Amino acid sequence: MCGIVGYIGNKSATDVLISGLKRLEYRGYDSAGIVVVSGGKLHTVKQSGKVRDLEQMVYSRWDEKFQAGATLGISHTRWATHGSPTPENAHPHYDQTGRLAMVHNGIIENYSSLRTQLQAKGHVFKSQTDSEVLIHLIGELYQGNLVEAVCAALKHVEGTYGIAVVSAERPDEFVVARKGSPLVIGLGEGETIVASDVSAIISHTRQVIYLDDDDVAVVRASGVDVRNINNVPVSRAVAKVDWDVGAAEKGGYEHFMLKEIHEQPESLGNTLRGRLDEQMGTALLSGLSLTPRELSAIRRVVIVACGTSYHAGMVGKYYFEELADIPTEVDQAAEYRYRNPIIRPDDMVVAISQSGETADTLAAVREAKQKGALVVGICNVVGSTIAREAGRGVYLHAGPEIGVASTKAFTCQLTVLLMMALKLGRCRRLSRQNGMELCEKIQEIPKLVKAVLARNDEIVKVAEQYHQARDFFFLGRGAMFPVALEGALKLKEISYIHAEGYHAAELKHGPIALLDKQTPVLAMVNDIAGRDKMISNVQECRARHAPVIGIVTEGDADVEANMDHVIHVPKCSHLTAPIPTVVALQLFAYHVARLRQCSIDQPRNLAKSVTVE
Ligand code: M6R
Repeated sequence: MCGIVGYIGNKSATDVLISGLKRLEYRGYDSAGIVVVSGGKLHTVKQSGKVRDLEQMVYSRWDEKFQAGATLGISHTRWATHGSPTPENAHPHYDQTGRLAMVHNGIIENYSSLRTQLQAKGHVFKSQTDSEVLIHLIGELYQGNLVEAVCAALKHVEGTYGIAVVSAERPDEFVVARKGSPLVIGLGEGETIVASDVSAIISHTRQVIYLDDDDVAVVRASGVDVRNINNVPVSRAVAKVDWDVGAAEKGGYEHFMLKEIHEQPESLGNTLRGRLDEQMGTALLSGLSLTPRELSAIRRVVIVACGTSYHAGMVGKYYFEELADIPTEVDQAAEYRYRNPIIRPDDMVVAISQSGETADTLAAVREAKQKGALVVGICNVVGSTIAREAGRGVYLHAGPEIGVASTKAFTCQLTVLLMMALKLGRCRRLSRQNGMELCEKIQEIPKLVKAVLARNDEIVKVAEQYHQARDFFFLGRGAMFPVALEGALKLKEISYIHAEGYHAAELKHGPIALLDKQTPVLAMVNDIAGRDKMISNVQECRARHAPVIGIVTEGDADVEANMDHVIHVPKCSHLTAPIPTVVALQLFAYHVARLRQCSIDQPRNLAKSVTVE
């Protein structure tokens, strides 16, 4: 959610930190701050607003010589949880002496009692944040050895953290630690950079260490010394990042979201690469590490996820039940651990998360593991916490998704779920012949998406007509129902238009009361099962004067005659149809938001990665 960057090395820390923060800005962006260590002092600038506001202040306040001279610093972009986004609440925060400073991601859940205890000892707090309490506690326990003080303080903390701490006395090192909030350490030539996300690191180095929960590390220009919370050295493997910097940049598109929508044929190709065995009519998915015998022993699938990933899970239910004949439940991850979920020994829990860091999904994974379930992760970010904790699963290989609105991750999630269902199905009831036919349909997915992207102008025209509407309805049946939910979510999060996704049959049970000529309806009337019933539902809407935009299959003239406007998607199997259909909805939401001049990549109140409950 918030972003951290720390640096020590042979370059200007200020320059490295500011450019790193810009790369992390998509994670959380209501305020930002930086502190560098120089001449035995801590120098800080904090600002509300965007990183560019901080940048302006830093470069107008600090002279060039000073900037080049400071080679150690830490920085932060904040997404407010405790206390509004003011400069006082922005990070870094100081200890009581003003000689230690810290940036923090996460939430200190017992901050209130710690604060009271520290106040009783004379500590005075300058912000309303939970974070400031932690650096005061570190300061209280500090006796000249920073890592010792950090370990000691963290033992009193309940909650989650990714932290970086500097001391005015130590221009040669700083200390970082994590629990529940990601931290990655990049090992460069004579420099070390720490960040909450590899995208801030890859322009410096590709050699990284992913810290585990309860790790604490002393960071120096020459490398890191990782310990556990008892200050005992532990070893952590060095991994290589295979993204390139270009993948994290806009590549000529006006917004990351548009770039990511257009990247889908390629990212879907990457998701599929080497994973289908057309001869045997099955999927390979070696990351599942499950034998056919283990796969056929699964009696129930439980999918846990949030937001867009949850919608992917809802489509996955149709796949698992139809292809593999396995009863499947889809749970909102936030609810899962609070309702004593029943786990049986032959259950498989599938956690879906683009970022692999969503707090609620992670908590669901831990709950399921603790209850003895077989847990599988479907994640995009390699080395992310959910991917590691699940221990087995399937990576999307969609490349970095920067736009807050998830697009390419969703279509890759559906593709992975379809391949998983195929694999499970082949271990149970699906014949080789059926498997081979399905492989062919799955291979077509990138081409289907390309065909929708080629319809961009058609979608722009409809967006131009309706971008001023105040409310929208999205309707679907079967696997198109979660697609309708996802279309509505895309529209509301980036255009701020109120949009409701509904099962088309549910409309008559209440929401139809809201329809009038000002309320456009997007109806998924694809040429698949349920089409005729959808046509009837569309008639019900039009009888209430609601204009209907039909997502229709190319060449389905009968349906077109029943719509006010149409957006075409190519003819394909009912199993793959959700993918091109949702791409049309992504483009529609994008163009509406663009016409309304919204902040598309960084919508108000939203962050890319939701690492708090
Ligand atoms: O990283 P995750 O897939 O776990 O994230 C889950 C949701 O926060 C995410 O899908 C969110 O709903 C997106 N902003 C939707 O576009």
